Amino acid sequence: MGYSYSRQTVEKVVDELAKRRQNAVNTAEARKEEMYKSCPQLEEIDKALSLTGMKIYAEALKGTDGLEKRIKALEKESRDLLDDKKRILKLKGKPENYLDINYSCEKCGDTGYIGIKMCTCMKKALAKCAYESSGLGYALSKQGFDNFDLGYYSDVKDKDGISPRDNMAYVLSEAKEYVKNFGKSKDGAQNLLFVGKTGLGKTHISTAIAKGVLDKGCDVVYDTMQNIMHIYEKSKFAKDETASLETARYLDATLLIIDDLGTELKSAFSQKVLYNLLNTRIISGKATIINTNLDGAKAFKEQYDDRINSRLIGNFRTFNFYGEDIRLKKAKENNAKKRK
Ligand SMILES: Nc1ncnc2c1ncn2[C@@H]1O[C@H](COP(=O)(O)OP(=O)(O)OP(=O)(O)O)[C@@H](O)[C@H]1O
Ligand SMILES: [Mg+2]
Ligand SMILES: [Zn+2]
Repeated sequence: MGYSYSRQTVEKVVDELAKRRQNAVNTAEARKEEMYKSCPQLEEIDKALSLTGMKIYAEALKGTDGLEKRIKALEKESRDLLDDKKRILKLKGKPENYLDINYSCEKCGDTGYIGIKMCTCMKKALAKCAYESSGLGYALSKQGFDNFDLGYYSDVKDKDGISPRDNMAYVLSEAKEYVKNFGKSKDGAQNLLFVGKTGLGKTHISTAIAKGVLDKGCDVVYDTMQNIMHIYEKSKFAKDETASLETARYLDATLLIIDDLGTELKSAFSQKVLYNLLNTRIISGKATIINTNLDGAKAFKEQYDDRINSRLIGNFRTFNFYGEDIRLKKAKENNAKKRK
């Protein structure tokens, strides 16, 4: 799968690399200036060394007769010059590569590419930047699949013979499948709707999915519904430019996670924004994950108009979260630990 980081992310990283490259060159230049001043002989040596290539070329033009010998002599001259240079630098208490350009990444010379292949340093920088701009930041390291514990859900079966733990095991395995297949489906993007009471792991599991998708090199944006509305208001009514860039990201992200749907103030404006956001993303084949406490068709009907509900039902796979509030359970565990 190709890279689909946002334009902002790519531009930021390319800028960063250019800065690193320039820094490395500037540092070397500054050192040269400092050393040449205190030791003009070094400048002579560097000048002579810079002529080596041309001298070899000139020798080659003179004909092939004894060429090898003449080149060997030139090479010795260069080696001696280099030895002199090292000796002088050592005398001045400097390391022997003091005047070389020291790139942060030696493999690519801070260009980000080795031939046409992207260097690992650039891949890492892109991933880091995408993590930071996802809106999840620190949460990505705290809420993953690896620390999602099914033990928090009761294994007491209900009348249908399914326990909350069975249910969550299913949700968890589907979430992992989702990451595995992300971007591969020919039928377009898959959208998920996580429904359930507070503290049951909706945000946790969506963060884990976000991390998996980010690690595939995709642009992920997370935000709460309240914040999304706030940004749209700023963009529309205050004509805030940063806010407008943010709204563009909600539309463009390869994966958008809308948390706490239904907690925003209900208004004609919020309906319009959500409708437009969902509809645009569905049409352009972009994936959306929504978390909500809204319970049942009635709650959805009260909050949203038919056009929104129809899309939530028709274009999203719904997963129900049930069990006991894990946030509370964990708080109790922590208190018990502190008391000991
Ligand atoms: N299965 C789990 N294993 C370990 N920790 C969990 C699990 N589920 C949730 N948690 C933790 O419990 C807390 C609450 O979970 P989370 O925020 O995901 O709930 P939520 O369903 O999003 O709740 P809300 O509806 O209030 O937003 C978080 O700190 C989360 O990391
Ligand atoms: Mg949540
Ligand atoms: Zn590199």
